[in-house]
Order: sequence, then structure tokens, then C-alpha cells
Amino acid sequence: MTTPRHELNDGTSIPAIGFGTYPLRGDDGIAAMTSALEAGYRLLDSAVNYENEAEVGEALRRSGLPREEVMLATKIPGRDHAKDKAIASVENSLTTMAVDYLDLVLIHWPNPSVGLYRQAWEALVDVRERGLVRSIGVSNFTAAHLQDIIDATGVTPAVNQLELHPLFPQEQMRAVHERLGIRTESWSPLGKASAPYEEEPITRAAQAHDVTPAQVILRWQVQLGSVPLPKSATPERQRSNLDVFGFELSDAEVEAITALGRPDGRLFDGDPDTHEEM
Ligand SMILES: NC(=O)c1ccc[n+]([C@@H]2O[C@H](COP(=O)([O-])OP(=O)(O)OC[C@H]3O[C@@H](n4cnc5c(N)ncnc54)[C@H](OP(=O)(O)O)[C@@H]3O)[C@@H](O)[C@H]2O)c1
Repeated sequence: MTTPRHELNDGTSIPAIGFGTYPLRGDDGIAAMTSALEAGYRLLDSAVNYENEAEVGEALRRSGLPREEVMLATKIPGRDHAKDKAIASVENSLTTMAVDYLDLVLIHWPNPSVGLYRQAWEALVDVRERGLVRSIGVSNFTAAHLQDIIDATGVTPAVNQLELHPLFPQEQMRAVHERLGIRTESWSPLGKASAPYEEEPITRAAQAHDVTPAQVILRWQVQLGSVPLPKSATPERQRSNLDVFGFELSDAEVEAITALGRPDGRLFDGDPDTHEEM
């Protein structure tokens, strides 16, 4: 099974679905990531703050897959936004994963009260020019944060990874991304503990297409054009979560799922203007 890909605004490409690696760690984490690669995932989403970059590198090696077949992504933590620290963070990620380039590095959260995300973005532009990183992007950036770094550097992020699931479908930010040529990635794409598996638009579509509710949600993500990053430690769920390219939701089904969205649909108080992570 080959996953379709999207072209990014820098000429590289990204699989239409990836694998979320938080909170997979240690030997169990390596086993879960290796089984995800065996299932066919070709994008592993990590972060310095997940403390599992060594496990990601080890899973890649255990899989036996060629380096260039697997997109490795990580994120710079909030405590390292000053330019020299952000560059050092990327260099450390390379050492920890034991690889000589990264496919995608994001700024994890904008942390606006710290006010240094512009420096972190300049650092990412630098490490991309040095060939350490193929693509650069951000996570949890609002329209204002995006405009700020684009105005400062002339470089538009390739992706912005956001909380996006049926209860919080991010219609405004998806429109902003469309206008700017930024690919959306979805974190907590199923909705984690609040996954709306029992909601009528989802159960109805699951019955109609003879698939699971989780597959309906991930297919909805794909049809929105966002790259979902489902996490599962369970090989069977890993396989079924990836198996969403053999059916298509109707426009009405997509709209009914999007209509589950609520202004208070976030999983926690993760508004990037106020929620900060170091
Ligand atoms: N950028 C950010 O700020 C940010 C924030 C949060 C997350 N993330 C990224 O997004 C990834 C995914 O987010 P997430 O783990 O919060 O949420 P999620 O992928 O929506 O949900 C994961 C949960 O759903 C369960 N699950 C997975 N597949 C299932 C299925 N088919 N049926 C029933 N349950 C299923 C998993 O359990 P089992 O493992 O037991 O199967 C796990 O408990 C993370 O791993 C991380 O890479 C990024």
C-alpha cells in the first residue's frame, strides 16, 4: 500500500498521512514505531520535548528502510527560540536521531510572551540553507504569527501543524493556509480521549462505507487536505488508520462531520495566543 503525497511549497513532498510518536518512548516506543514503518507509514512526527528522537532514529534503522524513504520530523522547544539555541537544537536532534539530515523541523509553539519565535524562524531558514534540514515549518501558529515571520524573512513555512479534529476543524486557519500555500498538518487528529466515534455523522458514514469510525475521521482529514498524524501503539490500529485510501466520503458526509465543530472544541486550553510550552 503506497500513501499518496502532497507537494510542499518548497518543492519537496509529504505523505498524505503520518504517524504521531508522542508519548512513545523506550523499547516499547521503538517497537511501536518500527511496526508503524512496517505497516507503511513514511512520516514520523517527533519533537525534542517528546524525548524520543533516539527511538525514532533506532526505529528507522531497525526497519531496514532506506533513509530517503522516511520523512523524519521534529520540533524546536519553546526554551530554545533564541537564534543560536534554535540552531543548536536542530544540531542536537541530528545527533540524537543519528542521521545526517532532517526532513522537516517545526517551531513547536509560538510562545508569544517570550517573543523570540522570529529568531527561531531565522535559525530554521539558516539550517535549511546549510542542508541540515529539507523543509521548515511551524506548529500552533496563528495567522498573525505566520504573517510576522513571513514579513521578517520572506520565507513562508511549508507546513503549520495545528490541533484539528471533528470537534475543532480549524476552518479559518485552513483558509489562511490555502491563501498562503501552507500545508496543514493535524495533531490529535482523532480527537484523542474526546474522539467523537459515537457521533451520528461518523457512525452513519462508517456504516455506509463499511469502515471504522476512526477511518472515517482520518479520511475526512485527508479530504480536507490536511495531513493527520494519528498515534497508536497498537499494530492493528496503526494498519487500519493508514488504510483510508480505498473509499471516499461524499461532500455531504464531509460537511456533516465538519459541522460537529464547536468554538469550545479544543481538547484543552491550547489557544496559541495564551498557551505556552517550553
Ligand atoms: N504540535 C503539537 O503541539 C502537538 C500536540 C499534540 C500532539 N501532537 C502530535 O500529534 C500526534 C497525535 O496526537 P494524539 O496522540 O494527541 O491524538 P490522536 O492520534 O488523535 O489519538 C491517539 C489516541 O487514540 C487511540 N487510537 C488510535 N487509533 C485508534 C483507533 N483506530 N481506534 C480507537 N482508538 C485509537 C490511541 O490509543 P492506542 O495507542 O492505545 O492505540 C491514543 O490513545 C502525537 O503523537 C504528536 O505527534 C502534536
